[in-house]
Amino acid sequence: MKKLLVLYGSYRSDRAGIRLADYCVRRFGGRGVEAELIDAKAVGLPMLDRMYKEYEPGTAPVAMQDLAKKIEAADAFLFVAGEYNWGVQPGLKNLTDHFLEQWFWRPAALATYSAGRFAGVRAGQAWHPTLSEMGMVVIPSMISVGQITQTLDEQGQPIGSGGAALERSFGKFADELTWWADAAAAQKERVKPPY
Ligand SMILES: Cc1cc2nc3c(=O)[nH]c(=O)nc-3n(C[C@H](O)[C@H](O)[C@H](O)COP(=O)(O)O)c2cc1C
Repeated sequence: MKKLLVLYGSYRSDRAGIRLADYCVRRFGGRGVEAELIDAKAVGLPMLDRMYKEYEPGTAPVAMQDLAKKIEAADAFLFVAGEYNWGVQPGLKNLTDHFLEQWFWRPAALATYSAGRFAGVRAGQAWHPTLSEMGMVVIPSMISVGQITQTLDEQGQPIGSGGAALERSFGKFADELTWWADAAAAQKERVKPPY
């Protein structure tokens, strides 16, 4: 896997999930992957009006055009998903909904988190069919981080027993996403995607 986008979408001033996003970028970077954080708040797309494809070529907002190019060029996607009221975070959902074809034919993985012990798994359940609908193949393994602020410090460094558990599970998770990303890239080389 050459290029990975790590997508994160909390707009809160005191957001904690950025720790997990930073951790994932750093850990994949350490494996030689060009991992880039796509922070929905920093990208700043408007609330969905027109999808990217509904603009005449070259007329979409610059941030949307830049992101479209990055999505098209990526080998895989990692969605760092927090849970709001048993569901997805609106900022990340809003960003993803601007695009469709740009997501096709690559694998996606989920890394969920929450303040409590349920680790955002219900948001993971909500994201899974959404990512499938958008043409990504969601890998079976998922990272789930409960008590996020007791698992990663502000620099995204693992702390305590939660941090140690995250470190133990990360290798297999990363190996799996890398395998599927390489498989998709090799198949795209061999056979053009049917649509
Ligand atoms: C609007 C809102 C709804 C939340 N709902 C849930 C929830 O359903 N389940 C849960 O485990 N935590 C919930 N939480 C707590 C979050 O897990 C925690 O605030 C987390 O840090 C949110 O991610 P963020 O800091 O990256 O925005 C909620 C937080 C907010 C702000």
